[in-house]
Amino acid sequence: MKITKICCIGAGYVGGPTMAVIAQKCPHIQVTVVDLNEQRITDWNDPDIDNIPIYEPGLSEIVAEARGRNLFFSTEVEKAIDEAQVIFISVNTPTKTYGKGKGMAADLKYIELCARQIAKVAKQNKIVVEKSTLPVRTAEAIKSILDNTGNGVQFQILSNPEFLAEGTAVTDLLNPDRILIGGDTTSEGEEAIKALVDVYANWVDKEKILTTNVWSSELSKLTANAFLAQRISSINAMSELCEKTGADVNEVARAIGMDSRIGPKFLKASVGFGGSCFQKDILNLVYIAKSYGLNEVADYWEQVIIMNDHQKKRFSSKIVQTLYNTVADKKITFLGWAFKKDTNDTRESAAIYVADDLINEQAKIAVYDPKVSGNKIQSDLNYLETRSIEENKDRVVTFDNAYEACKDAHAIAVLTEWDEFATYDWQRIYDSMHKPAFLFDGRNILDAEKLESIGFIYNGIGS
Ligand code: NAD
Ligand code: UGA
Repeated sequence: MKITKICCIGAGYVGGPTMAVIAQKCPHIQVTVVDLNEQRITDWNDPDIDNIPIYEPGLSEIVAEARGRNLFFSTEVEKAIDEAQVIFISVNTPTKTYGKGKGMAADLKYIELCARQIAKVAKQNKIVVEKSTLPVRTAEAIKSILDNTGNGVQFQILSNPEFLAEGTAVTDLLNPDRILIGGDTTSEGEEAIKALVDVYANWVDKEKILTTNVWSSELSKLTANAFLAQRISSINAMSELCEKTGADVNEVARAIGMDSRIGPKFLKASVGFGGSCFQKDILNLVYIAKSYGLNEVADYWEQVIIMNDHQKKRFSSKIVQTLYNTVADKKITFLGWAFKKDTNDTRESAAIYVADDLINEQAKIAVYDPKVSGNKIQSDLNYLETRSIEENKDRVVTFDNAYEACKDAHAIAVLTEWDEFATYDWQRIYDSMHKPAFLFDGRNILDAEKLESIGFIYNGIGS
């Protein structure tokens, strides 16, 4: 089967960039990205390309090239499903906030809605691709819904998890380490796998396209995220020990990373990992393990989250302790709010939790982030429901200039590793602050020696 029409349900951080790259690399395929969120679709269609809803280096250029040619953003979900041979499901799968599995399991209500809608609309055979990250064996439930509520047409379910990281989504999509496609071992399953392999083969080496059974593919995605997050929690655990012993975590990371069996990536000690997926996917893994009665497996992976929560708390406690055990009414400036550099995404950002702790201690927080708006910062804090909207407004002020944000501060805390922070005139910032001027580098990106020579009392992670 030759694919000429693709539909993607979900125009978010995965659906948008992934489909933009497929459209750019496969001009012969019409790609329509649909979403229930009208504002999001309006933003994707904004004539001013700088206003598309997701900031990723290189993305606006790709959208500008393909949009209107073979890339379309629309709210007409049913029409797009009807026309497509392949339907990617890229909707969100957040942690459940209610009922059985609350706080642990993935909430599959959006996935089920998609499956029911596809079943209702489809009048010809379709390939349905799980792009969202899903618990192992979800394809079984999707298949059951499609087969039992559909119009008698045939569906093939493929698992094709996405491994892009935000901030580097475009390069990750253009040069993926691998593409993983899981499908049935029947001849129809194999035909569906081949059709999707052929789409990716337009720009990805065939050797990098891995095909497996559906369950291996679904579980590999959760496993990859668990392993990545585990490395961060492992180095963060060592960062606390470094602080007690005089070892330097950057030196330790370098020393172990040169062991080719360990490797140098994902060993950067930090204020804790954030983002929409690591925590959600590990909690989901823990829940799945528990549901099979595998308590030791569940406990093992849960420790990655426990360590990450500890690291965020430890950072805010350190600020309070260092500032003579009180931050009440002191101005503490956050440089960065996004969960990592080069993205405007703030989901589960460590900054939110550190700010919450410090506001509980009655600190005044000033924030500067090059890509995150004041409204977003307020809504992130309000979402925690720790205090009233008015109180958050009173306690947290956002600036669109770092020098203004740092003026009259007692301390600066670096929460995101934006490159521009290293280029600042730190003498000027120091001169404008209360003395002694403290700097807490939650990302170890600044030059400690230089800052100390200016007069800052510098605190990195793990040294
Ligand atoms: P997102 O919240 O940015 O986007 C999901 C979109 O789906 C939203 O715009 C929402 O309105 C839309 N949606 C939900 N239900 C719908 C429905 N029934 N019909 C039409 N639209 C609907 O989420 P995301 O970050 O793109 O993540 C999507 C999935 O991909 C998740 O499972 C996530 O775990 C996985 N993933 C995310 C990343 C990442 O970097 N964000 C990377 C790899 C995998
Ligand atoms: C992560 C994975 O890297 C992707 O492969 C995966 O597709 C994605 O999750 C997903 O499933 O959503 P992402 O969360 O976008 O991508 O970004 P990462 O680069 O993994 O960073 C996650 C967090 O870990 C950030 O807060 C980052 O600052 C932190 N981090 C990362 C560290 O603290 N230290 C490191 O060495 C690396």
